[in-house]
Order: sequence, then structure tokens, then C-alpha cells
Amino acid sequence: MAGERLFMGIDVSTTAVKALLIDGSGAVVGQASAPLTLSTPLPLWAEQHPADWWAGAVTSIRSALTAANVSGDAVAAIGLTGQMHGLVALDAHGQVVRPAILWNDQRTAKQCDEIRQRVGRERLIQITGNDALPGFTAPKILWVAEHEPEVYARMRHILLPKDYLRFRLTGAYAMDKADGSGTILFDLRARDWSPDVLAALDIPAEWLPPTYEGPAITGMVSEMAAGETGLRAGTPVMAGGGDQAAQAVGVGATRSGIAALTLGTSGVVFATTDAPLIEPEGRLHAFCHAVPGRWHLMGVTLSAAGSLQWYRDTLAPSDSFETLVAEAEQAPTGSDGLLFLPYLMGERTPYPDPQARGAWVGLTARHTRAHLTRAVLEGVAFSLKDTFELMRGAGLASLSETRVSGGGARSMLWRRILASVLGVELASAPTTEGAAYGAALLAGVGAGAWPDVDTATQAAQAAQEAIGGGVFLSVQPDPADEAVYTPLYTQYRALYLALKPTFDALAVL
Ligand code: XUL
Repeated sequence: MAGERLFMGIDVSTTAVKALLIDGSGAVVGQASAPLTLSTPLPLWAEQHPADWWAGAVTSIRSALTAANVSGDAVAAIGLTGQMHGLVALDAHGQVVRPAILWNDQRTAKQCDEIRQRVGRERLIQITGNDALPGFTAPKILWVAEHEPEVYARMRHILLPKDYLRFRLTGAYAMDKADGSGTILFDLRARDWSPDVLAALDIPAEWLPPTYEGPAITGMVSEMAAGETGLRAGTPVMAGGGDQAAQAVGVGATRSGIAALTLGTSGVVFATTDAPLIEPEGRLHAFCHAVPGRWHLMGVTLSAAGSLQWYRDTLAPSDSFETLVAEAEQAPTGSDGLLFLPYLMGERTPYPDPQARGAWVGLTARHTRAHLTRAVLEGVAFSLKDTFELMRGAGLASLSETRVSGGGARSMLWRRILASVLGVELASAPTTEGAAYGAALLAGVGAGAWPDVDTATQAAQAAQEAIGGGVFLSVQPDPADEAVYTPLYTQYRALYLALKPTFDALAVL
């Protein structure tokens, strides 16, 4: 192998396949991405063809090597990550039998009810840590069995999106435990497939691949894949992790006590735990972490920065985000009693309700556009607080640090609002490179560059600090603002329950 020892992370997200190379200090030395399109054959459906992921991987791997000015010989190991939950179904010869059904596909509400019935809702939550949600993989399998029996009859292997890339790279059927737990066919405590859930759903256990901890080797790049990608045949491919777990590795949220808050289109609160913690009603996701022997709790506000994006695009298309947010600073804390519900795409946490709707409540003639904008920022913060409250209720010990990243966190005002609504200091995440970066760190750990994931994330943080420190300034809660937000949050909490009958009636209309 030539002098360099680089680690590659490959992320098959919903919008692009990204390949990223880091060196042994954790510094990024090259990256590239290839866009993907989404197909929606019917309303609420979301599909992609696995062949497009492979084509995107080939392009982005080659471009990342070029960007780093190295050949495939410089890559010592590869880690994989990607969109979670998507159903990739293969026949006995490894041929894809239908397009992949993705995490954001909503066709399976009926199959979720069926799973609750066949396994028993409480038992399902106790074994898998999760309630059945349309986003997860298991209901998609039942949907294919029911609606496409001829396709189901040909199915012999089930993979998740990034594991299809693994199969094309190495020929191995394998999966990591973080993504495996997002299928809800997994025994959360045992960190492996649940024979009980598989039996209750009549899913043959032999269709599911062996699962591995994040840094474990799952196979080697084949001669054929090497020819296509420019990688070296024999390069080890590590398990990696689902995108949320890998993203958490990237921002150093690997130890209990550290939470990662990502303010992207959706808002994700991710907290690492040393033991499997379960929210008794299944209102939080409880999955295995990509860090061996650790777990995490997670809550998702579907429209976080997405709410601000909708607001700008719809009501103020000629103004920049900066203009709107600067204007919002002029409105007082609490927006003079104006509340915003961010359920513009339905919601996942704390209400797994596709029929939930957005709302401003409390409008008066005194309210200005500045109030409307500020109420959006505050409403999203209240929704994220809902997740933190559920985590506390599930037994999460107090958090020593909450690290914030994502496009929305660029706004100092939004970070200040969040700090005061949540009542915690918001620390800067060390990097914004995302899940591919975390997958590259996992590959480095598997290849022996770092003894464990914690050491790798500390090295990565030091590498980021050497080039200018974390991404944002950290922010403390303001006691005066907290005093305004505490009673307002109580009113916010009451709104969903009060409006639920209206949401349901509107959905029928
Ligand atoms: C996680 C989830 C999304 C997808 C999309 O539960 O559904 O984060 O992984 O990337």
C-alpha cells in the first residue's frame, strides 16, 4: 500500500450518495457526492432504485479519490452509512425484486396495526424498543406480502440501503446493529434479530443478514467492485451505522450524557445510553448505537428548519432567512403570546400522527411579521423540548452536554431560543460533515487507527479545533427568557390535544 492510510465513509442519503476521505488525524482530505432522485408513484409513497445508489456510489467514490488526489491504494478501510429503514428486497441470486420502499414512505398504516396485533403492542415495544411506525422496515415487508405476493414469493434477502452498497462492494450480506434495530425486527437488548417478532410476522429468519457492531469488518472489496470504483480489491468494508448513529459518531455524541441536537429540515434529538432505555409508550425511537455495546434514544420533529423554510418560501419568498430572523429579534421573547405548532408534515415525536397539522394560535391585530417568524422558531424549540421531556420520563440521566449542529443552528437567535426553552447550555458540534464522516471514523477504528470510537471522536474534535474550532459559539440559557418560556410551554403542550379532533376531522374532509 502506498504511504497514505485514509479512511472512506460512504453515505447513501435520500438526496445523494456522498463519499468522504479522512486521514489518520481525522481531517477531511477529499469528498464528493452524486445526486439522487426520489420517485413518488402514488401520493405518500417514496421509492428509489438500488441500482441508482450503486451508480451514485461509483461516481462519488471515484470523484472523492480524485479530490484527495490519491488512488484507491491509499484507502485502508471503508465505513458505510445511509438513510435508515428502507426495504431492499433481493431474490436468491442477489437481484433486486422491486424498487426500495423508503423511510419517508407512508403507505403502511394498516400493516402497523397488524404488527401491533400479531406481536402485541406492549410486547413489541418491550422487545424492539419501538412502536410500529410506517417509516420502519417491518410494515413494508408485510405490505409487499399483501399487495405484491408474486414479488414476495421471489424474496430471499432483506437489506437496508447502505447494505445494498455493501453487497455490491463485497458480495457479503451483512448489516450493522444500529440500522438493524430500525427494522423493528430486532431484540434491542440482545442486539440481534428477534426470533419472536420474526415468527409472529411469518418472516423467514434466513432472509435477514448477520449483524455486526459499527467498527467490525463485514467483507472485502471484490475484484469486480474494485474495477468499477477505483478502490483496491481486498480493502476491508466495516459495518458502519444508520445515518443517525453515524452522524452522532461524527459529532462525538458517543458517550452517555452527551446529546446531539440536529436542526436540519427535520430536528433530531439523539442521546446515547449505556443500557437500552425504552419509552414505555414507544413515543421515542430506541435503537442500538453504532458504538459497540451502547444504545440511544431519539426523537424527531419532522418540520424543524423545514418549518422556517416553508414560512419563507410561502409568505416571504423575496426575503432572505437572515432578514426574517433579524426582524424576529425585534419581537419579544414569547412572541406576545403567539404559539406555533410545527406539524406541517404530520409528526413523529411526541405524537406519531400523520394527520397532525401546523397552526398559529393566539393571533391578534397587534402581531407583526416579526412575531410570526419568532413564533415559528419558538414552536420548533417547544417541539424539541417535548423530546427531551420524553427522554427524561424514559429514565435518561441528566445530560452533561447538548451539541447542536445543522443548517438552522447557524442562527444565533434560534440557538438562544433553544437554550432557554430547553434550559440547557448548547455546545457547538465539532463538525458539520455529517454521517459520512462518522462512518469514516468507524472504519478507522476497525482498521486500528484508534483503539475505540470514543478515542476516534476525541481525535476528530482535536483535528477540527486545529482548523478553527467548533462550528458555532456555545450559548447559555437566559433566566429571564426561561421565565417566559416555562408557562408558555404548558400552553403549547395543551394545543395538540385540544386540536386533535379538528386535525382528524380535517383529514377526513
Ligand atoms: C431515522 C430516519 C431518518 C432517515 C433519513 O429514523 O428515519 O433519519 O434515516 O435519513
